[in-house]
Amino acid sequence: MADYAFGNPEIVEEEVDILIIGGGMAACGAAVEIVQWADSDMKIKLVDKAAMSRSGAVAQGLSAINTYMGENDPSDYVRMVRTDLMGIIREDLVYDVGRHVDSSVHLFEEWGLPVWKQPGDEGKKLTEGGKPVRSGKWQIMINGESYKWIVAEAAKKALGMENIQERVFIVKMVNDKNDPERVAGAIGFSVREHKLFVYKFKACLLVCGGAVNVFRPRSVGEGTGRAWYPVWNAGSTYAMAAEAGAELTMMENRFVPTRFKDGYGPVGAWFLLFKAKAQNGAGEDYQTKNADMLKQHNYGNHAKGHVMGTCLRNHLMMHEMREGRGPILMDTPTALAKLAETMTPKEIKHLEAEAWEDFLDMTIGQCGVWAGENIEPDKEMSELMPTEPYLLGSHAGCAGIWVSGPTDLPGVPKDWSWGYRGMTTVKGLFTGGDGVGASGHKFSSGSFTEGRIAAKSMVQFVRDNKDWKPELATPVSELVEEIYRPVKTYLEHKDYTTAEDVNPHYITPKMLQFRLQKIMDEYVAGVSTWYQTNARMLSIAERKLQMLKEDSLKMRAKDLHELLRAWENYHRIIAAEAHMRHIQFREETRYPGYYYRADFLDLDDDNWRVFVNSKYNKASGEWTFRKVPYVQLIK
Ligand code: FAD
Ligand code: ADX
Repeated sequence: MADYAFGNPEIVEEEVDILIIGGGMAACGAAVEIVQWADSDMKIKLVDKAAMSRSGAVAQGLSAINTYMGENDPSDYVRMVRTDLMGIIREDLVYDVGRHVDSSVHLFEEWGLPVWKQPGDEGKKLTEGGKPVRSGKWQIMINGESYKWIVAEAAKKALGMENIQERVFIVKMVNDKNDPERVAGAIGFSVREHKLFVYKFKACLLVCGGAVNVFRPRSVGEGTGRAWYPVWNAGSTYAMAAEAGAELTMMENRFVPTRFKDGYGPVGAWFLLFKAKAQNGAGEDYQTKNADMLKQHNYGNHAKGHVMGTCLRNHLMMHEMREGRGPILMDTPTALAKLAETMTPKEIKHLEAEAWEDFLDMTIGQCGVWAGENIEPDKEMSELMPTEPYLLGSHAGCAGIWVSGPTDLPGVPKDWSWGYRGMTTVKGLFTGGDGVGASGHKFSSGSFTEGRIAAKSMVQFVRDNKDWKPELATPVSELVEEIYRPVKTYLEHKDYTTAEDVNPHYITPKMLQFRLQKIMDEYVAGVSTWYQTNARMLSIAERKLQMLKEDSLKMRAKDLHELLRAWENYHRIIAAEAHMRHIQFREETRYPGYYYRADFLDLDDDNWRVFVNSKYNKASGEWTFRKVPYVQLIK
């Protein structure tokens, strides 16, 4: 028997019809849906780098489902998303999510997810007319600590554990030997065993979430590892799709969430459900005070009525902090006292429990901050802070990949749809959730829904390509060598110095990550410049990222954990480069409060109300850009 060890992994090759890469919300949606449509002889496999029950952005659970139509019209949902994302979205994609999303939420409830109901409707399901407790127009409250566990269980039951592989990190897509515009396979490695997996397939769903830890986080030193979005999502979706030749869209967009300081606790329930207000250090309501700021630089162009985009709320807040009028404080005591006015003592206790549960359900660390700092939310205000930027396409952001839309909506440009809903511009490569660009505000339920939609069209794609055989453009031996390069580098050079981490022949993944984060933070509008950049700074970033990419070939891996870290970093670099180059290309400030092009401070609808799409050439390292006209479908 062969003796497999570190540096000498077993190579496992497998051919399937459809590979689902990722085990998050979109992947689970695909798993549940696909079994309804797939022919009995179709082979479907799912691989997740982690354990599905607690993987991805919903790992800790959530306290709300942020996209549920209920009594609302999907057209209105499109209007809200358009306003929030400053006037540029793919309305066909957003509408498609809106019209299907409720059926997903009904499934969650069917599987056991407790959805809060209004008094008198307890025990009545949504499908039975039970009225949910809405925190906002689009959001409904849940007891969601086990949300991911419940959804993953349904996905596992649907596919069968024999078709699921956990703890396998996918490193790259492999194009087809006979058609470079098509994918034929993917390769990854086990993070627990000395095994490499090579998959061949007809179609694949790439849904590895967004990109976290690309920018230097506010939590450094003793707080390292704390972030708002899940640290495990390292830009794999964007990097692998870009390297396979897929067209990206709106990668200049990012999400800078305002969060409870240090614990990164979400603010939605506090603003919407508890009706709390935020104030500056002088006790002023800065939103009212700074309202006129939206008249400057055309920033208010797309703010309709009382709805203000998430980035604009940041913009008004950051102004106070930059001018030295911090800290920004969430007035939790006044909000709770107001709600308590009409409550019995028992109801007040329940309300306090809900305030804690909001965090216990999804950001437990925030409760740690409250408990550790003796903060009682009914007595003391809590600080808010804008976080480091994240790249994502499912929350209040829209970075991602350009995909084929639905065919049945009137007015949609012909070239927005190429037959298979959710397919990227690379044949056979589909995406959903954070992967789909120009269509934010899907959240957990919408991401799951996009997975379901893509599943159905992947089945169709496989049927239409029944006789096609995938052939890998790169020989397996070459792929294996590339993936294990960090291991080889380590084994060859480790004895050169006595201090294992300091070696002229290699760099540790951790150090390389610090370098990436420093570049992005200081030159590409991170927290240290208050989210500002300009052409000159970006050109320095371009040079430094180029060198970083060259040096990334020198990353070492002293164990499987470091091999994982090394490849996550590589994915982060490609995602970071896409982000930087898109910001460079868009010569305006479209998302004030997310980032500022200080040399083009205006929002310029005449020239820039367009999608920015890019393509990456893996061989030459070049990026090409095009503007795609925005088309308004819903008045
Ligand atoms: P994810 O669910 O993050 O899944 C990504 C998957 O890819 C994971 O399984 C991961 O392990 C896997 N993966 C990553 N890289 C690789 C790789 N290279 N190889 C193999 N597998 C890989 N939404 C709401 O509706 N309501 C809320 O209240 C809410 N609150 C939130 C609070 C927090 C703290 C966070 C972080 C998110 C919140 N969201 C909320 C948003 C929601 O969680 C996301 O929109 C949704 O999970 C995105 O789905 P996805 O499938 O794209 O990614
Ligand atoms: S969470 O998804 O991590 O819980 P967050 O707390 O920011 O994120 O938002 C939850 C929901 O509330 C989202 O739909 C978001 O758009 C909305 N939201 C948050 N703050 C506000 C606000 N001040 N006004 C309107 N909507 C808000």
